[in-house]
Amino acid sequence: MAIAEGTLPADMPPRAAPAARATAAGLSLVGAVTGGAFTLFLFTAPDLLVPLGIVRPADAVIVSLFAAAAVFMALGGVVALARLGLGGAIALIGVLFWLAACIAFKSFGWLLAVPLGFAVLGALTGMIGNDRVASQADPRLIYRQDVMTRLTHWVWAVAMFFLLLSGLQIFNARPNLYIGQESGFAYQNSILDIYALNREGGPIGQTKLFGTTFDTTGVLGVSDNNGRVSFTAFPGWATIPSYRDLGTGRVVHFFFAWILVGTLLMWLVNAISSGHLWRDIVLKPRDIRGLPRDIWDHVRLRFTHGRSYTPLQKVAYFGVFAVAFPLIILTGLSMSPGMNAAWPWLTEIFGGRQTARTIHFFTMLAFVLFFIVHIAMVVLAGPFNELRSMITGYYRTSTHGEEK
Ligand code: HEM
Repeated sequence: MAIAEGTLPADMPPRAAPAARATAAGLSLVGAVTGGAFTLFLFTAPDLLVPLGIVRPADAVIVSLFAAAAVFMALGGVVALARLGLGGAIALIGVLFWLAACIAFKSFGWLLAVPLGFAVLGALTGMIGNDRVASQADPRLIYRQDVMTRLTHWVWAVAMFFLLLSGLQIFNARPNLYIGQESGFAYQNSILDIYALNREGGPIGQTKLFGTTFDTTGVLGVSDNNGRVSFTAFPGWATIPSYRDLGTGRVVHFFFAWILVGTLLMWLVNAISSGHLWRDIVLKPRDIRGLPRDIWDHVRLRFTHGRSYTPLQKVAYFGVFAVAFPLIILTGLSMSPGMNAAWPWLTEIFGGRQTARTIHFFTMLAFVLFFIVHIAMVVLAGPFNELRSMITGYYRTSTHGEEK
């Protein structure tokens, strides 16, 4: 993919993009009209939507979310005619409202995706079209993330969400972790146990980690699930489904696991062929030498906005791609009976199925930690510019477009 940088001659203004403008406005407005029609039906005739698979009765807050979404999509469409990028960003807010409404609605008729699809395309056309034109006049606005990097990144964000919550559902079926091959009452090899106990004052939840016991009532072991006491290890709000259902949890988990593996392979092929892997991910001696300085810069909240990642970012992403993803996928595979038969050595490498399961769990915790730091860094480094680069691909550098 070509990198859009360099200035235009002074007498040549940035190329206007009437087609992009019309497309962004048109798509956002179609999203708004179809979204508005759905909202109207939800208010006035929800029964008409039942044959379309949209079965939950309307709830005032949810319907308001749908209404707000339609208003933002419409506003985005109109604004895009004058200000392409701003219009796209406003339509994107509509998309987020629509998504929130769909999640709260708990009814996933596929037709609900129609306004969303139009508005997403409208928002992206507006923002990408705007950045493409703007980068022609501004050498600091560079094309940093290609389509495949952006696409796979957002698929992972969604997949990791479902994997985490369905994984906790599966864990709840046996809320203990062991080291070694065996598990059960006859063995003393557990390192984590989450359980409930009956006490005079009522049930309590406890967590035993490496021999130390913690009272975790309310969160782990015993929690409240919509006014009812739940005796699951992880509470209902942290699992998919929210009630005990191992079968569904496994289906969701394996579905998103294969999505993750597939998109990682796509990312890898693209990252190798585009040079992204070598330039931005693989750690070089120069990055290791620059690490102490970069850590100090991060501590002082001084962020460099360059063409590539800083040494600390490279360490984080290299860790994710070279250690965490392979580890969580391989330990996951080594727990599958089919893989045990085909590649018994894989389970052996990890010291047995129970140890593999424990490593899988702790790698999940590492991902949660990565996620918290990742989001904090995006917020601290300048969320608009950072998110812009992962949505449109364009990034405003502080180094005047020089290679960093
Ligand atoms: C569990 C979910 C997530 C994972 C595993 C993840 C992982 C990653 C990885 C590996 C990269 C580097 C990609 C590459 O260069 O090829 C990256 C970059 C990035 N991610 Fe995420 N991410 C997640 C969620 C999010 C979310 C929710 C946001 C937004 C709030 C976000 C914002 C970004 C941004 C802005 C970058 C650009 C790189 C930078 O400037 O540091 N990520 N992420």
